[in-house]
Amino acid sequence: MRIYKVGGAVRDRLLGKPVTDIDWVVVGATTEEMLAKGFRPVGADFPVFLHPKSGEEYALARTERKSGRGYGGFTFHASPEVTLEEDLIRRDLTINAMAEDDQQNLTDPYHGQRDLEARLLRHVSPAFAEDPLRVLRVARFAARYAALGFTVAPETLELMRQLSESGELEALTPERSWKEISRALMEDQPQVFIEVLRACGALKVLMPEVDALFGVPQPPAHHPEIDTGAHTLSVLQQAALHKQPLTVRWACLLHDLGKGLTPEEEWPRHIAHEFKGLKLIKAVNERFKAPRDCQELAMLVSEYHTHGHRALELKPSTLLELLQSFDVYRRPQRFEEFIAACEMDARGREGLEQRSYPQADYLRGAATAARTVAVQPLLEKGFKGPELGEAIKRERLKALKAYKENT
Ligand code: CTP
Repeated sequence: MRIYKVGGAVRDRLLGKPVTDIDWVVVGATTEEMLAKGFRPVGADFPVFLHPKSGEEYALARTERKSGRGYGGFTFHASPEVTLEEDLIRRDLTINAMAEDDQQNLTDPYHGQRDLEARLLRHVSPAFAEDPLRVLRVARFAARYAALGFTVAPETLELMRQLSESGELEALTPERSWKEISRALMEDQPQVFIEVLRACGALKVLMPEVDALFGVPQPPAHHPEIDTGAHTLSVLQQAALHKQPLTVRWACLLHDLGKGLTPEEEWPRHIAHEFKGLKLIKAVNERFKAPRDCQELAMLVSEYHTHGHRALELKPSTLLELLQSFDVYRRPQRFEEFIAACEMDARGREGLEQRSYPQADYLRGAATAARTVAVQPLLEKGFKGPELGEAIKRERLKALKAYKENT
């Protein structure tokens, strides 16, 4: 039996990047031999084992053939006769199809090292098309390695285009897609993920609501970049530059979906886009089964982001409504994330990336003012039930009036 390091661990070592996960491939072994050595079998799909001590994944070398639609439609063949080269050729990208033995001798039959040097994300063989998730993976790798100068090879982009047109992307499960999307959004250049998906026609299939924003103009006075798609990408880029969490990045991506619904006669204005977008956001959220906190923040940011921008002009009663909508008393973190998304939206505009955003501190101050209202004295006055709720609201409104006058 011969054991090799494969995939991301080899790629990232050659790139000089930290290696976290190590995947191993085992050539010349049977399942029985692995079990006899104390490896623990995992996964019903493939012959994969966990090392008894390190817990790292060891897979028997295998070949795969597609036998139907979607991820389930695979037959695989693992046996001691399958060679390392046969195992590597079924992999997605040349830079992911290198193996290394314990002496760091490289096996690189598909020229991954050459593509690493050329900064190219290139598919290994036509077998790339057997897993449509790879369209998202390539876009994710493009986002991750954009800063190093990596681009997608034209022939790979063409294959991704064919896959996107074939209807295969629809067969992906929400869970697999979301895993790629969420990882891609957390990269340093998440906007590249969206750009690559758009370039190969996958965005139109996966998130037509985002794709529809390209070519939609906005008023140049507020949006020097004009195009709503370009703006969305800049907002996402700002979110990454400011190290925002996934919730904020997801909300940034979806905050202007309503603008895609504006009739052309109304361009470049987008009246009520904050509300029009809600049904689209709900659909995208559900399509990928996004986690609840991502879903919620995206909806709230769409509905209220223009309130955020106009914070300093809002009447105390409107400020109160905003704070109530966010349940800022019990969910202070969510309101912070809303403020962050608004700030990213304000900065994600051409030439305005460095602008200050006084609305952020103003909103924080308003939340603090409303939160200082104590319930105990109202209870002591005898308020209860709905009357207590009304009394608390009145006190909060008073506090916000005072805050506005003094700020
Ligand atoms: N792989 C593949 N096609 C997929 C998933 C994985 O060909 N749809 C192969 C690639 O060779 C990849 C390896 O399996 O390098 C391990 O996959 P995974 O752990 O998902 O990715 P990594 O390449 O290790 O990358 P990351 O750093 O993102 O984890």
